[in-house]
Amino acid sequence: MLNFNTEQLQQHTTPFYIYDLNLLHQTLETAQQEAQKYNFHVHYALKANANTPVLNLVRQHGFGADCVSGNEVKAAIENGFAPKEVVFAGVGKSDAEINFALDQEIFCFNCESKHELQVINELAEKKDKIARVALRINPNVNANTHKYITTGLEENKFGINAWELESVLELLQELKHIELIGVHFHIGSQITDLTVFKNLCTRVNEFQEWFLAHNVTLQHINVGGGLGVDYYHPDENLIPDFAAYFGLFDQFLTLQPGQQVHFELGRALVAQCGTLISRVLYIKNGVSTNFAILDAGMTELIRPALYQSYHKIENLTSKKKEVRYDVVGPICESSDCFGKAVMLPETNRGDLIAIRTAGAYGEVMASAYNLRDKAAAVYV
Ligand code: LLP
Repeated sequence: MLNFNTEQLQQHTTPFYIYDLNLLHQTLETAQQEAQKYNFHVHYALKANANTPVLNLVRQHGFGADCVSGNEVKAAIENGFAPKEVVFAGVGKSDAEINFALDQEIFCFNCESKHELQVINELAEKKDKIARVALRINPNVNANTHKYITTGLEENKFGINAWELESVLELLQELKHIELIGVHFHIGSQITDLTVFKNLCTRVNEFQEWFLAHNVTLQHINVGGGLGVDYYHPDENLIPDFAAYFGLFDQFLTLQPGQQVHFELGRALVAQCGTLISRVLYIKNGVSTNFAILDAGMTELIRPALYQSYHKIENLTSKKKEVRYDVVGPICESSDCFGKAVMLPETNRGDLIAIRTAGAYGEVMASAYNLRDKAAAVYV
């Protein structure tokens, strides 16, 4: 059960996000301790949550920044991340975004196609600069997660496929304003089966051998993010098992002397510290179920509607006997449902409802659909 004082929560206009910065601090510290055992370097994926207090704490714990848009690069730098700690990925970087990142002299572009390499080369030439680049390779490894957040299969739009690498190396010979410094992989998100990462390591080792055979030395190997969190039992597993995660890469990755390993974690660092707090507007009896209608909806948290994802729902103010509810939002879409057949203490208008594990891909994915107001963020 969530550990906030309900009287304090009652003072805020619902719906709102509440972030536990103490838990965030503990999570970041644990992740860093485990990563540093192997000299691994972690970039935080801003796309999970780019709120300033979150970014500040992340930066203070020594993480770099993983960005997927020009505005994310800008947000990282404005929030104090050094440009040499910024990586920039994404299949569709615009010219303006590339130019901005070149001007900032970021650490590395994670490039996803030959065409993109050519464009970055052209734009860098105009500025008389050399762009540092890692090739994002599609390793064709199944992440065993929801299909919308699977990115490392050949059918996905992401990365350069293995059969193109030969021609990429030929192309790179001609591109005088590109310096190849690494390779990058990211196979998906919310990965809870660690053997998936073991399979990734096996593929990375194969690619490494291929590069060695072609006399290409790589300064760094970026294995992306994707470590999942426990949406079902947040209180039992507030901090993901970073020891097992980083230990696995140490055990199964074969590195060349001096090579650095980089990670890009988002969800695992911030998901559990955020909760969406909402108030019950109405209770309505349907044909086969009771509906608890909240003042928060898919506009505040779209994950259940988009990925049919589970978030634990708690009634913070009722202690009555449990009743079954479909917990829904006010938006004019039937997919605007946070959970079906959820057992909650008998729920009434005005009760406070917590939707847990919402710190990652919650607030950042909010929309103004139905011209909704943006929910506030509260930090404790
Ligand atoms: N690196 C790259 C290149 C990525 O595309 C992503 C996430 C990450 C790192 C961070 O992955 P994480 O450690 O957070 O799993 N909106 C979806 C998740 C989309 C993830 C997109 N890419 C959700 O709510 O589940």
